Amino acid sequence: MTLKVGLIGAGGFGTIHLLGYVRNPNCKLVAIASRTEEHARKAAERFDIPNIYGGVDSWERMIKNEELDIISICTPNYLHALTVLKAIDKNLHILCEKPIAISHKELNEIESKLKNKKLIFFTSFQKRYNPIFPLIKNVIDEMVLGKIILVRYYFSHYGPYKSWKPLSKEKWFFDSEKAGGGVLLDLGVHCIDILRYLIGEYDKVNGINYNTSCINMSYEDNCNVLFRFKNDALGLISVSWCNEPSETIEVFGSKGYLKIDLGKKYSVSYGPRTIKRNELIKKIINYKRSGDIAQYHLIDHFINCIVENKQESPNFEDGKRAVEFVLEAYSLKE
Ligand SMILES: NC(=O)c1ccc[n+]([C@@H]2O[C@H](COP(=O)([O-])OP(=O)(O)OC[C@H]3O[C@@H](n4cnc5c(N)ncnc54)[C@H](OP(=O)(O)O)[C@@H]3O)[C@@H](O)[C@H]2O)c1
Repeated sequence: MTLKVGLIGAGGFGTIHLLGYVRNPNCKLVAIASRTEEHARKAAERFDIPNIYGGVDSWERMIKNEELDIISICTPNYLHALTVLKAIDKNLHILCEKPIAISHKELNEIESKLKNKKLIFFTSFQKRYNPIFPLIKNVIDEMVLGKIILVRYYFSHYGPYKSWKPLSKEKWFFDSEKAGGGVLLDLGVHCIDILRYLIGEYDKVNGINYNTSCINMSYEDNCNVLFRFKNDALGLISVSWCNEPSETIEVFGSKGYLKIDLGKKYSVSYGPRTIKRNELIKKIINYKRSGDIAQYHLIDHFINCIVENKQESPNFEDGKRAVEFVLEAYSLKE
């Protein structure tokens, strides 16, 4: 089976998607749309894509004119839901970048249009393909730490356009209309998705504090959110665009704790000392990073689900719950 793929947004993360699709033998890139035609053309030359669309309406024309099976959406956040809705009308399988929408209205529209459709929807939560998370989940599910009481997730980098070089001059991440949120919508959605995978569904967001301390924008560039899971565990997500790149997850249970630094240098601390004898804890202590690109695994999984006609996570519901988490936290800002 060769699935025909059209991609929208030839920028930074669009390129990562393209690299993922070209490696997969069950699909072929047949069209690319990007606002700046030159950017679409360059990507088309590099990845051997026959059909090129440029302009602000390029995504609409591509969906209308091409016979596609799959659409990959890698545009600024405000365009995600608009594109998803058109793609559902054409019965296309969808891989949408996070956040999949920026309002409840958009989420509801997507949800009602998706009902009774047989298409596969993936949210681009590629962190789920980092092999460390299933190892942590095994420890939690096997009650090695006892009942989980508290989890903390810290995630930061220097911020858009400092952490990477943009293709376009436009700084849409700092434009509230186009981004729909700040660092919480950008990085926080990944954190809550991983925590839902590890611990279970969240119940309620209890509080937020935030500031805009280093970037000239109206949304937050530092943010802490306190919340509670349905199983009563407490959660804290702390995200920043004003800090060195770092990622740490801490899980505290009634019998012990685990703190894992997923940043530059992988390191683990735990307690009490005796839990290091546990085989599942040993796997985390001895874990070696493979250097694999998580997005390639996500794309392989997405294609496989289409081939086998099965919907797995990270799906629409996962994308929706993550956006709802952020919107609930934002509602507490006032
Ligand atoms: N999963 C992750 O970890 C992850 C990481 C990074 C980004 N992302 C997400 O990926 C998305 C894109 O981010 P990015 O960093 O790749 O941004 P980016 O480099 O600015 O790329 C965005 C692309 O969208 C194109 N675009 C803008 N308006 C368009 C329109 N009306 N029609 C067609 N194309 C249009 C731009 O086109 P031109 O350049 O041609 O003008 C640009 O190439 C965002 O939603 C972001 O949150 C996810």
